[in-house]
Amino acid sequence: MNIGILGTGTVGQTIGSKLIQLGHEVRMGSRTAENEKAAQWVAANGPRASHGTFADAAAFGEILFNCTAGVASLRALRMAGEANLRGKILIDVANPLDFSHGMPPSLAVCNTDSLGEQIQRAFPETRGPACRRWSADR
Ligand SMILES: NC(=O)c1ccc[n+]([C@@H]2O[C@H](COP(=O)([O-])OP(=O)(O)OC[C@H]3O[C@@H](n4cnc5c(N)ncnc54)[C@H](OP(=O)(O)O)[C@@H]3O)[C@@H](O)[C@H]2O)c1
Repeated sequence: MNIGILGTGTVGQTIGSKLIQLGHEVRMGSRTAENEKAAQWVAANGPRASHGTFADAAAFGEILFNCTAGVASLRALRMAGEANLRGKILIDVANPLDFSHGMPPSLAVCNTDSLGEQIQRAFPETRGPACRRWSADR
């Protein structure tokens, strides 16, 4: 299966490498097509790995993973493009952690709303599961 990973950090790299190990084709997306971490990840993961922009990865994937920094996820998903997300399952593992006031980080959104719900509202034609919804419902 073709899978799009949005995010070049440890989480995107770890999920992407495991999916390749399992036999999938994985494209990693970033703000820029020449992202160095993504290029290194491709070099380490062989011919089933590729990289490009968020839009490239979203267009490529039949299933998508949101592995971007939570406070930037909506921006990253807009860069991925609504048309590239439409009708696809988006597995959202992002946490909306706000590091702007130092450690420990606070949650940029919580209690009455969640990043998962914000994503669902912004991209209503994208399909779940959205992990954060689970915690919002408890
Ligand atoms: N659910 C869990 O158990 C779990 C565990 C650990 C972490 N997480 C979450 O997983 C996510 C990824 O974590 P990580 O440490 O691997 O990576 P990260 O450093 O939190 O995020 C890296 C990604 O965010 C993108 N990004 C950063 N600022 C941006 C902006 N202003 N606009 C658009 N995109 C932006 C980066 O784009 P570029 O590629 O262009 O640099 C990069 O692809 C985070 O939300 C983290 O909280 C979840």
